[in-house]
Amino acid sequence: MKILAIESSCDETAAAVIEDGRKILSSVVDTQIATHALYGGVVPEIASRRHMEAVVRVTEQALKDAEMDKHDVDAVAATCAPGLIGALLVGANFGKSLAFAMNKPFIPVHHIRGHIAATYLAYPELKPPFLTLIASGGHSEIVMVKSYTEFEILGGTRDDAAGEAFDKVARVLGVGYPGGPKIDKLAQDGDAKMYKLPDSHIKDAPLDFSFSGLKTAVINLAHNAEQKGETIDRNGLAASFCAAVVRTLVPRLEMAVKQTHARRVVCAGGVAANSFLRAALQDMAKREHVQLFMPPLQLCGDNAAMIGSQAYYEYQAGTRGKTLQNAYATADIGKNICD
Ligand code: KG4
Ligand code: ZN
Repeated sequence: MKILAIESSCDETAAAVIEDGRKILSSVVDTQIATHALYGGVVPEIASRRHMEAVVRVTEQALKDAEMDKHDVDAVAATCAPGLIGALLVGANFGKSLAFAMNKPFIPVHHIRGHIAATYLAYPELKPPFLTLIASGGHSEIVMVKSYTEFEILGGTRDDAAGEAFDKVARVLGVGYPGGPKIDKLAQDGDAKMYKLPDSHIKDAPLDFSFSGLKTAVINLAHNAEQKGETIDRNGLAASFCAAVVRTLVPRLEMAVKQTHARRVVCAGGVAANSFLRAALQDMAKREHVQLFMPPLQLCGDNAAMIGSQAYYEYQAGTRGKTLQNAYATADIGKNICD
């Protein structure tokens, strides 16, 4: 089954053609990063307009790369939640209209389920159940993937997502948007012990965590240094921050491995591209004798291939979007977003 998938939840307009959930026939990602970098972060209104301008071109390119006509696809899928609502509406309405104009099924897809499915594209042998750490720009959660379409949240952030924290710290350090890759790079030449940064503990919820204290500590550190006329060691602060994020996420995932006796662990989402997190997860996998699966870097960030993969399993489970299908800015990973 060949699915044409569209993704437009944030600042990437993407389209892909995926066969049977596992094979990428084409994947096109048109990023708006350069535009939003001018403002130091994503401007939702601009994102929506840019999706409008790009969605037809990107879809036509994906079909061309797959050497297919739109009538050759068996279904159309689009991200319908969660994300920036104006941005989501562009891809969701475009995908829906295209599907119904061609008399094909429309499959609404949850963006975070898509991030997990990115792993299926890289590992043909991977099947649920498995434990997942989601670390993206908008979400940070520990999730048990019980089946391709059943999810149980075991823990998560009480405030900012990991990616959000990276982007805010990057802003404070003046390294621009998006922060994650830039902080990762700076940290390569830094001493992680240079700055003492706080850890978070949530009473009676050991698998939950928080990034706001960490973020505030970095902001205060930078402001205090500025007031005293001191210069911050940006490499050292980036390295100390990466270490603090790893200290927040990895021990909790490890605790969840012990609790659930999971044998397979996935890490997905934009922050799964972080080199320090990847290394710490490898060490954890060795310690706990679990198999670790992480998407290759180009599938960690937003793309439509992952949406096409998840769409296949949603389709198998009977998910069909109707003409009234809406888009939603927020939606739990376990929620059925099909109207
Ligand atoms: O999953 P994603 O592409 O978009 C959302 O669904 O939110 O995640 C984007 C986030 C951004 O916050 C970005 O700074 C972060 O992923 N990111 C990274 C790295 N690459 C991207 N964070 C840390 N280290 C990286 N190498
Ligand atoms: Zn994403």
